[in-house]
Amino acid sequence: MEREGKDTLPDVSHWDAFKDWVSNNQTKVVVMCLILVLIGGKDGFHALKDNVGVYQGYAPEQPIKFSHKIHAGQNGIDCVYCHHSAEKGKTAGIPSVNVCMNCHKAIGEGKTTGTAEIAKIYEAAGYNPDSQEYDKPEKAIKWVKIHNLPDFVYFNHSQHVVVGKQECQTCHGDVENIGYPMRQENDLTMGWCIDCHRTTGVEMADNGYYDKMHAELKEKYAAEGKTTFTVEDIGGLECAKCHY
Ligand code: HEC
Ligand code: HEC
Ligand code: HEC
Ligand code: HEC
Ligand code: HEC
Repeated sequence: MEREGKDTLPDVSHWDAFKDWVSNNQTKVVVMCLILVLIGGKDGFHALKDNVGVYQGYAPEQPIKFSHKIHAGQNGIDCVYCHHSAEKGKTAGIPSVNVCMNCHKAIGEGKTTGTAEIAKIYEAAGYNPDSQEYDKPEKAIKWVKIHNLPDFVYFNHSQHVVVGKQECQTCHGDVENIGYPMRQENDLTMGWCIDCHRTTGVEMADNGYYDKMHAELKEKYAAEGKTTFTVEDIGGLECAKCHY
């Protein structure tokens, strides 16, 4: 105790000396603070600009060690078997525990995690593997959301997957080879959306959705002889398409 007290004494007097210096040199202190704010502010501004809403590579821990590589890769399960609303609506959705139970009622053990992780599926489903009955209360699995566009942006899955004929992998990466944990492949910035809309051609031929528009665009661009069109040409850079 005594030693500690002695050790702190010199620090206290340094601090007092510093305070004295500050009160005697106030103009210098103000100028130094201004410089620090300017340098810090400039870096801060860059950091903000580059990072707002950017969570590329975000790969949080999940309540169950679910591996896309094992399911979509090694076992070849189709993405939309689990994310079935991707072809029907705005969101792709996360499968409910009942979807897991379609297979895991029979598969109680995994090669890498044994029974530990699959037991959590049973827990969530209220399933008792011994009696093979659903005799316990259900508990929702609290998956941690990875992708998260700001509320003022409109993005629709079926529009891209069904109408635009885009592959899941173009936006989400080589998911068949992503083991646990899942990650965000792209930065989801406005620039990312716009770049693709500028460069991606819209497959209009034999696409019922576009018959009328295709005819109109071909007529509009007849003089230039332009017959293929990008998402930009159909209005994909208009602010209101993506912002409410
Ligand atoms: C057996 C069911 C299953 C299959 C098949 C499957 N997924 Fe998933 N997927 C999940 C579950 C469960 C989660 C939530 C846990 C996680 O993020 O790892 C998820 C999460 C995701 C996420 C991140 C969601 C978020 O929180 O932002 C994306 C993107 C995704 N899957 C894409 C795909 C793609 C692409 C395929 C096909 C190559 C696919 N999934 C196949 C079950 C599945
Ligand atoms: C269409 C069938 C199917 C569905 C649906 C399914 N799984 Fe699986 N799952 C498998 C197969 C096959 C294995 C591999 C078992 C092995 O290791 O031999 C597996 C293995 C696992 C493992 C153990 C991995 C290891 O190597 O230890 C976990 C954990 C798991 N699944 C979680 C889930 C979750 C969570 C869901 C629901 C979101 C789900 N599964 C949906 C077929 C399925
Ligand atoms: C054109 C790019 C693009 C394509 C193609 C795409 N996604 Fe997505 N996906 C996104 C974006 C952007 C988000 C974030 C949406 C949000 O936060 O509102 C997302 C989010 C998700 C999520 C999280 C849950 C949700 O619905 O928000 C899952 C799961 C997912 N995608 C699966 C898929 C699957 C499976 C496919 C293929 C059938 C697919 N995605 C095709 C861009 C795409
Ligand atoms: C990999 C390429 C790709 C990326 C990345 C992409 N899109 Fe698209 N987008 C398309 C294609 C192709 C279409 C054409 C489908 C259609 O006509 O509806 C489209 C159409 C749209 C439309 C409808 C435009 C119209 O004129 O009808 C909206 C809105 C949209 N995208 C929003 C987004 C947003 C928001 C993002 C980023 C979060 C995004 N897209 C990222 C390829 C992409
Ligand atoms: C293809 C889709 C798309 C179009 C078209 C689009 N935006 Fe965005 N915008 C986004 C996305 C996605 C974000 C979110 C980016 C992020 O969080 O980093 C965004 C973010 C913004 C922001 C917030 C500031 C920021 O950088 O986060 C503003 C302001 C904005 N957009 C204005 C516009 C204006 C003005 C237009 C028309 C000239 C436009 N946007 C067209 C997709 C789009």
